[in-house]
This record gives sequence, C-alpha cells and structure tokens, in this order.
Amino acid sequence: MSGPVVAIVVAAGSGVRLGGTGPKALRHLAGRPLVCWAVDALAAGGVRSAVVVVAAGLEADFEAVLGSALIPVTAVVGGATRQESVARGLATLPDDGQVVLVHDAARPLVPVEVVRRVVDAVRSGALAVTPVVPVTDTIRQLSPDQTSAVVDRSRLRAVQTPQGFDRDTLVQAHAGLHDEVTDDVAACEAIGVPVTLVAGSREALKITEPFDLIVAQALLSTRGGPG
Ligand code: C5P
Repeated sequence: MSGPVVAIVVAAGSGVRLGGTGPKALRHLAGRPLVCWAVDALAAGGVRSAVVVVAAGLEADFEAVLGSALIPVTAVVGGATRQESVARGLATLPDDGQVVLVHDAARPLVPVEVVRRVVDAVRSGALAVTPVVPVTDTIRQLSPDQTSAVVDRSRLRAVQTPQGFDRDTLVQAHAGLHDEVTDDVAACEAIGVPVTLVAGSREALKITEPFDLIVAQALLSTRGGPG
C-alpha cells in the first residue's frame, strides 16, 4: 500500500475523569496542549496531514493551538460516541491518503517507533493494525452473580492507538457497524477483517486521570524534552 499517510485524531471527549475545566485534549502537558503532542508524534512517524475531531463550538480553539503543529490540521465536529467521532473524521479526510491512522488525542506520548510499526504493517498489506502491550496486572473476570475467576493474563493484550488501516476497509467497517465498539480494529473485525497486532509501548499511555498526567510529565523529563 503506497501513498501518503493521513490521520484522524479523536479529541471530542469531555475528559470528566481528569477533572479541571475545558476539554481534555486542550489540557497542557509541559506547556503544550495534549492534542499538539499527539499530532506531532504522528507527524514524526510520517503522517502528512490530520483531521482533529472536536466537540461542537471548539473548532476555532483547536485550529488556533494546532497552528504550531508540524503538519496541516483541520478540525471537524465529533459525535456522541468515539465511534461517531471517528466516522465524522473519516468523512472529511483528504482524498489522497490510502493509509489512515486513527489516534486518541489522549495518548500524547506515543513513541515514533510505534507509529512507524503501525504504518509499516499497513504498507505491507495488513488491513487493520493495532499496537498492543502485555497486561501486567492479574485480572479477575466477574460473573453476573458477582463471583469471579482469574483470567490467564499471558493471553491478554491491552490495545493502544494509533491504529492503522487500509482506507477502504475502514470506510466499509464504519458503514457496516450496528453495535457499539470502543476501537476501530473491532469495527473491522465485525465485518470479518483480520486484525494485525504490533508491539505498542507503555509510553503510549492514555491520559485519563490526574495521575496519568504526572506519569506523562515524568516520561517527558526522561526524554530530555520540555519539562
Ligand atoms: O472515552 P475514551 O477514553 O475511550 O476516549 C478515547 C478518545 O476518544 C479520546 O481522545 C476522546 O477525546 C475521544 N472521543 C471522541 N468523541 C467521543 C468520545 C471520545 O472523540 N464522543
């Protein structure tokens, strides 16, 4: 699969669990909004342009902060669910990108090697690709009667973003969706497309709670970057 790589960065969530005011993606990490870190991480991995999906009324705010991003970015309004937000981003992507990445703005520090692994897998012919990491906690699964059983964690993987796709496959997956899914490889799987796993990184952590921002700040200081 050749041609430029384009990205959809979903940033329309409210970020209630992080606390504070305003959308999570505009919260600062080392003096820059999370969404700017996320977009520049994709750019470093070869993404040529991005559509950022945001809550209604915030398009101008996002486009203003993203004026300093390494690649051109346009903002579009998202939907009530992540799935709807991705679909809206997909509908406005520039025509020329056949390799599409979908990334959470809430994962600002994804390393460039992870982005490259995802892109390389799609370029090599995979239709739906996700980075994953092993699960380190022991996990117990609850039953409806509130009893629980341990799960074999050696067979579990935690899913990250950016996920990578052949564009036509992602379009078909979203067109065919009936049930709610929480990521886009699951949408592809629902139409029978095999999912390819590549190695992710703990550094691609999702900023959900205040603790995660502290971890991200600490990570940045080990990279020798700002902060
Ligand atoms: O809620 P969750 O943590 O799964 O959100 C993951 C990403 O999806 C976040 O970057 C969030 O901004 C985005 N999102 C969205 N539209 C929604 C809900 C979540 O763009 N309606």
